[in-house]
Amino acid sequence: MFALFALTAGLLAAHDPRSKGYFRLYFEDPIHLKAGFASAAAALACFQVFSATWIFGKLPWRKPAWINPAHRWSGRLAFVFTLPVAYHCIFKLGFQHSSTRVLVHSLLGCCVYGAYAAKVTIVRLRRFPVPVLPIAGGLLFAVLIGVWYSSAVWLYTRNAAAASSGAVTGAEVFATSGCGGCHTLKAARSNGAVGPNLDELHPTFAQVKSRVQEGGGVMPSFRGKLSEQQIDAVARFVSSRTGSP
Ligand code: HEC
Repeated sequence: MFALFALTAGLLAAHDPRSKGYFRLYFEDPIHLKAGFASAAAALACFQVFSATWIFGKLPWRKPAWINPAHRWSGRLAFVFTLPVAYHCIFKLGFQHSSTRVLVHSLLGCCVYGAYAAKVTIVRLRRFPVPVLPIAGGLLFAVLIGVWYSSAVWLYTRNAAAASSGAVTGAEVFATSGCGGCHTLKAARSNGAVGPNLDELHPTFAQVKSRVQEGGGVMPSFRGKLSEQQIDAVARFVSSRTGSP
């Protein structure tokens, strides 16, 4: 079950990033939507481990009647919370390997539903030796936290880093704002593949500036996250290093 589901997710995700079909609900962009839902799922996953420990009688308190349904329903809710994330990852952004972080995130992402399928099967069949279920549950928890850590935690700490880093030069802003995670630009030694290759696009200063301010598609708006000077600096950097005026 693990292999079947993980492979299916990987094969479905084996495509270049698509340009349309993203949604953001009331988040600022699709990337923050993914991070928000993944964080909610991670929080519920912590409750899963806690309630499972209680169900197994490993906590000092008596097991209340509501703990089984609470475990079941929080697990279902966690699953639902992963769906908007999986939709964007599998069907829109696709499997990527532009950096070690992205590769690890993609691989773990494929494993989430594999681990989920394995765990649910083991619960339902009820015919495995006792330690199998906690191991499967623990594996699912570890995979989910790994996915969350390599994406949401990275995103939240990066945004804070860019704003407070006092990045001044365009190259610094480019490096600390995560532009390289989505764009290839030789001058910055980045090879992201979510957005267009900036070396090939040759954007003008005004083009970069307005795009960084407004965002678009899956690209977040950096207005309010970067100062006016930082936006000008990164626009000058990108437009001057790709050979257009
Ligand atoms: C989450 C991924 C992501 C991040 C982060 C990101 N971009 Fe983008 N960027 C995109 C995508 C996707 C597009 C294409 C959007 C579209 O299809 O309209 C794009 C488009 C662009 C364009 C092309 C504009 C045009 O007129 O065609 C420029 C220039 C650009 N980004 C620069 C940047 C810079 C500079 C940063 C960092 C401050 C950055 N991007 C951060 C995903 C990203």
